[in-house]
Amino acid sequence: MISENNYEEAQTYQDPYNPSELEQKHVPILEPNTVSVKVTVGEVKHVMEANHWIQYIELFADGESVGRIDLQPGEEPEAEFEVDVPKTKKLSAQALCNQHGLWENEINLKSNNAKS
Ligand SMILES: [Fe+2]
Repeated sequence: MISENNYEEAQTYQDPYNPSELEQKHVPILEPNTVSVKVTVGEVKHVMEANHWIQYIELFADGESVGRIDLQPGEEPEAEFEVDVPKTKKLSAQALCNQHGLWENEINLKSNNAKS
């Protein structure tokens, strides 16, 4: 599919069981607990150098943006967001590399709550 506009499609794992080096350094990793979600880019931490860095990380809960954290060279390629995780079914994160474009990952949460 070729896009004619400037919006690029986010990239993610082609095969999550056999990630490429580029995927390991760019696909955001989501770590939810009950009140927040930590996002790290990526499973091998991306560099945060003056000419090559992660410009922002954005988190979505059930498709709605929770927030976007802009990053600067020298900072850690990670961000933490407040989320009511037990009430959320799906979390997704996007990260923008100034050289390699937009990357995303998502996780589906199983509810641990008993039906009441
Ligand atoms: Fe990159």
